[in-house]
Amino acid sequence: MKRTVPVRLGDRSYDVVIGPGVRTSLAGVVQRLGARKAVVVSARPAEWVPETGVETLLLSARDGEQDKTLSTVQALCGEFVRFGLTRSDVVVSCGGGTTTDVVGLAAALYHRGVAVVHLPTSLLAQVDASVGGKTAVNLPAGKNLVGAYWQLSAVLCDTDYLSTLPRREMLNGLGEIARCHFIGSVDLRGLSLAEQITASVTLKASIVEVDERDAGKRQLLNYGHTLGHALETATDFALRHGEAVAIGTVFAGRLAGALGRIDRARVDEHLAVIQHYGLPVALTADIEPEVLVRQMRRDKKAINGLAFVLDGRAGAELVSDVPPDLVTRVLDQMPRERLDAVAGGAAVPVSMADAATT
Ligand code: GLY
Repeated sequence: MKRTVPVRLGDRSYDVVIGPGVRTSLAGVVQRLGARKAVVVSARPAEWVPETGVETLLLSARDGEQDKTLSTVQALCGEFVRFGLTRSDVVVSCGGGTTTDVVGLAAALYHRGVAVVHLPTSLLAQVDASVGGKTAVNLPAGKNLVGAYWQLSAVLCDTDYLSTLPRREMLNGLGEIARCHFIGSVDLRGLSLAEQITASVTLKASIVEVDERDAGKRQLLNYGHTLGHALETATDFALRHGEAVAIGTVFAGRLAGALGRIDRARVDEHLAVIQHYGLPVALTADIEPEVLVRQMRRDKKAINGLAFVLDGRAGAELVSDVPPDLVTRVLDQMPRERLDAVAGGAAVPVSMADAATT
């Protein structure tokens, strides 16, 4: 079954289409755009790339932070020029979130903006990274420091792509699905994976529609991310993003409890939701809370002291100036496990067969 989630942004509106086999609608999308040429940048085998229906240049890419650089953007734009891509043509990405990020930025910059369609192949990219128009690359000084907002022309989330995803890749996306529970979604536990993807995208669309440029509500999407980003950095990315966000979500519940924003039952609900998805809940044993606090001070949200998106009686919101000693104390009280026990989560949460269900 195919599901369509509109992202309503006036004349920059587009659809996110979710379901098995939806990649085959690419040619229809390209035709609607009126493009005469397409460049497809793919981190997946050529067979994963559908027909575009127009003259096409296929470029291969690699998923991973190492290629999320300005020099990749420059190389891609150089290929676009050589192929004769014009402003009325289209760029298509096929791959995980790092590929959609870097290809999105190349499309945003080439001729000051050319249409871009994403074919996200990882769960993380389908539920979060490919939707909403944020693009970015890394600098040696840090992740995602250079980027642009550039909305898509369409996103085709083909759930068939997920049927061969390794378990840790599934966990990577499930961390983002789990955090939806605390930022306005209904309880997604018990739904099929396709329904969870649709609900996550619907929630993200509703947030992006009211705050495209991260001035307020969009920060809710960073639930669990302040500690999550610090853990990714502190473990040198041995923890995957979704795993780190899961631990950050458990911590966010405890911190909200310590600040008196939520009661004990709601703190426990954070743990229960994360455990339901088979995600890790413990800090890695060898990282000192002070190191994490230092790292969290560098977070983009930390304009006024330490800042976290925290649950409360009126829902989640950005809370600034959280006292560092309280943060350290709550970190101290978190359970701890060795990195190899934390990375990879607790249990197999979703059967790989579910990935292909409608
Ligand atoms: N991944 C967070 C956002 O798109 O705002």
